[in-house]
Amino acid sequence: QANERESLYLVSEFAKEYFHTTLLKTEEGKAIGLSYFKERGFTEETVEKFQLGYSPDSWDAFTSHAIKKGYKLEFLEKTGLTIVKEEKQFDRFKGRVMFPIRSMSGRTLGFGGRILRNDKKAAKYLNSPESDIYHKSKVLYGIYHAKQSIAKEDNCYLVEGYTDVIQFHQSGIKNVVSSSGTALTSEQIRLINRLSKNITVLFDGDAAGLRASLRGVDLILEQGMNVKICTFPEGEDPDSFAKNNSLEELTLYLEENAQDFINFKASLLAAEAKNDPIKKAETIRDMVVSIAKIPDVIKQEVYLKECSRIMDISEEVLFNTLAQILQKDK
Ligand code: CTP
Ligand code: MN
Ligand code: MN
Ligand code: MN
Ligand code: MN
Repeated sequence: QANERESLYLVSEFAKEYFHTTLLKTEEGKAIGLSYFKERGFTEETVEKFQLGYSPDSWDAFTSHAIKKGYKLEFLEKTGLTIVKEEKQFDRFKGRVMFPIRSMSGRTLGFGGRILRNDKKAAKYLNSPESDIYHKSKVLYGIYHAKQSIAKEDNCYLVEGYTDVIQFHQSGIKNVVSSSGTALTSEQIRLINRLSKNITVLFDGDAAGLRASLRGVDLILEQGMNVKICTFPEGEDPDSFAKNNSLEELTLYLEENAQDFINFKASLLAAEAKNDPIKKAETIRDMVVSIAKIPDVIKQEVYLKECSRIMDISEEVLFNTLAQILQKDK
């Protein structure tokens, strides 16, 4: 269905342009959307680079414009830009600021749309649904703008959200991508793996961020990649931290706080339950489970020795545990 996919690409590109022009050229867009981005500290250059946009606060402004321009309702519906209900048509992203999601080569695949005021009734972000061109599990937000820097720096920062990616770019750090609203997948990691073997996970300084970064670790190790984790102070995320600190401060913070996964797991235990023997045993087992994912046996041994040293447990016990785990996984 190459033709149909091409039609979905075309309507997505058109929507990206429409939202971007609406943001920059209409009174409503400027007063509401552009001033929102400015408040967040985004410059015009950043708005341009990421092709940020605004979808008018009206039921069908985008849809009726697109139809007038000759785009078929069928494709508007398949990309999720338009919702059809009882033969009426509605704009999915009504009254939201828009973040186009682009492929490795820069094609627009879908959108994230953020409400302007935090409101408990509405989801903060709405995202395009899956379509023939947009497979969430295979896309990383920011990859188009990051790919060269990931290869050049030989490292990729992995963050949670759209604004984390954007604020890092504005600070001058370009090797950054986000899984944006989905739990990290192996396919997303594979996209990075083609560019660099090193990932530094930078998740939000809250419980959800911590859980998400731990989940990601094993998936990254499994692909033979190296993973570091750096957390942010409670209540901060990469966006707010980058906004409130200079590039020098940000770089220093990343250098000082990025920990190898094994040290990261040890420091979590130390912070929570240093003297609890059961928690300590669970942590050690969890470390060995992660080590078991590493394909390179030399690295496995190095990590086991490190684990033995920092957790004060014999290498022999660790090697036996590893052997058991590998046996079970077969
Ligand atoms: N997300 C989503 N739907 C939501 C909430 C979050 O898809 N209802 C996704 C978005 O991609 C978001 C990411 O998860 O960027 C991280 O969520 P969160 O930390 O809550 O948002 P921020 O990116 O920090 O957004 P903001 O600073 O605008 O509040
Ligand atoms: Mn422009
Ligand atoms: Mn969060
Ligand atoms: Mn966040
Ligand atoms: Mn945020």
